[in-house]
Amino acid sequence: MDLISRTVEFVKSLSADDFSGHDWWHVSRVYRLSKFIAEKENANMFLVSMAALLHDVDDWKLNKHESFRAKEWLIQCDLDKKIQNEILKIISEVSFRGSGEVIIPSTIEGKIVQDADRLDALGAIGIARTFAYGGANKREIYNPEQAPEIHKTFDEYKSKQSHTINHFYEKLLLLKDLMNTETAKKLAIKRHQIMVSFLDDFNAEWNVGSENI
Ligand code: NI
Repeated sequence: MDLISRTVEFVKSLSADDFSGHDWWHVSRVYRLSKFIAEKENANMFLVSMAALLHDVDDWKLNKHESFRAKEWLIQCDLDKKIQNEILKIISEVSFRGSGEVIIPSTIEGKIVQDADRLDALGAIGIARTFAYGGANKREIYNPEQAPEIHKTFDEYKSKQSHTINHFYEKLLLLKDLMNTETAKKLAIKRHQIMVSFLDDFNAEWNVGSENI
């Protein structure tokens, strides 16, 4: 088996019990989307593929404690040390850490995987994942008494247990303007629009009859 296929099997085995929207199928979509963007942007396909496959295995949302699964896997694969470090650097630069700590990746490969990960948080799939994540974390779907707020630090963002609709206003609707590559910017426009019209419909349905109270 080649390295990519072995890495696919490794990641599948780790994410079998995830119901928070970070399951294997999320990784699979990010992997395909990353390769699609990489082709258009002339990036290193191997680095993009490996980083996309491993981008969530040490994510703070999935693990209670700090882990080094990606690093340990790359060592086990006996990859060249320089390439290992390039892949690990991409992964570390990819995650969104709350509004105050946005990292712009330093390489085109990092920019692509970050774009693909963010695109999977948008649109119809983004909506489905957001509610799955909210449910898995015991969040209300919506609470009209809690207005959205933009968090200044990663810790604040992480500790606030707001309802799921707020997550659209606090994070997801901001992502369209944070895309790095031209290819992702184009893909993000439609996905953004789907969320805007979903929120319009959600609010309209929620408020039916409220003018009569
Ligand atoms: Ni991800």
